[in-house]
Amino acid sequence: MKEQLETIYKNAQEDLAKATSLNDLEEIRGKYLSRKGEFNEIKKNLKNLSNEDKRIVGSLANEITKNLETALQEKHNEFYKKELDEKLSKERLDITLPGKFIPQGHVHPITSTTNEIVSILQSLGFSVVPDACSPEVETEYYNFDALNVPKDHPARDVQDTFYTKIAKNIVLRSQTSNSQIRAMEGKNPPIRVIAPGRVYRNENINARKNNFFHQIEGLYVDKNITFGDLKGVLNEFIRIYFGASRPTRFRSSFFPFTEPSAEVDVQCIMCEGKGCRTCSGTGWLEVLGCGMVDPNVLREVGIDPDVYTGFAFGMGVERFAMLKYAIDDIRLFFNNDVRFLKQF
Ligand code: DAH
Repeated sequence: MKEQLETIYKNAQEDLAKATSLNDLEEIRGKYLSRKGEFNEIKKNLKNLSNEDKRIVGSLANEITKNLETALQEKHNEFYKKELDEKLSKERLDITLPGKFIPQGHVHPITSTTNEIVSILQSLGFSVVPDACSPEVETEYYNFDALNVPKDHPARDVQDTFYTKIAKNIVLRSQTSNSQIRAMEGKNPPIRVIAPGRVYRNENINARKNNFFHQIEGLYVDKNITFGDLKGVLNEFIRIYFGASRPTRFRSSFFPFTEPSAEVDVQCIMCEGKGCRTCSGTGWLEVLGCGMVDPNVLREVGIDPDVYTGFAFGMGVERFAMLKYAIDDIRLFFNNDVRFLKQF
């Protein structure tokens, strides 16, 4: 049995000398050292030997298998390193290759314009109201009554305002001014807030009008607030948003919730004031309505108009975006044609 062991060991060493790869080593391990390997076969027969021989042959078998294990491990390390080196040199990564293009979505121009307007107004001291102050589905009370809009005002007509089937008095808000009432109710001045959001109107759709659009409402109520403060804030806002060189004008107007009231027009960028389809030939586009909060509105929310005054404004987000980026049709914002949206 001793000779047998030595022969197997010799064969194993020869096989090992011939091995050239990790695969060869695995084969050798299987052939000699696995459960069904040649050494194990011999070890199974040890039981037939005398105790003395068992000890001698057993320890020889152990020694030989140990040596073979060590030799296999050494070869393994050698081949592993060699194969890894080969692989690494063959599979060199070219980090200068251009990457794969993964198209990425981005912010809609109405959202980015809203964000820009909001952040300018924040820099002027206004805070955004909580969402709960500015719902899109609203009662007639907040959208009209509390804002001093008479019962027979044409804006309340179904031709102008979308009424819901939820209840007779529930509308899709036609203006973000509803947030003024909710921002003032139960609060004490100073109140200096803005409310961005979507509004709905039953409009005939054209280049300037869509049946939903976006506004940013502003409200400042405190002691001694004057029309001069309103003009100062809006002029500063427009200067920051458009830069100093864009012609603008204040024009007196009427809103039920402000007295006096005004509108601000910005020169049409499409025709530079000459008149075109977008500005319907006037050379100007109206971008916001504003005014001094009507005493009736203050009284409605429990603020004493003899102590406090305030100004309010409502900006049209689409108009501001059109005038900055020379977009000649409001409908482009909502068709969601990627060729258009991609440009922003
Ligand atoms: N809510 C008005 C509209 O949608 C705009 C407006 C006018 C808002 C005057 C105001 C304001 O806050 O004071 O046409």
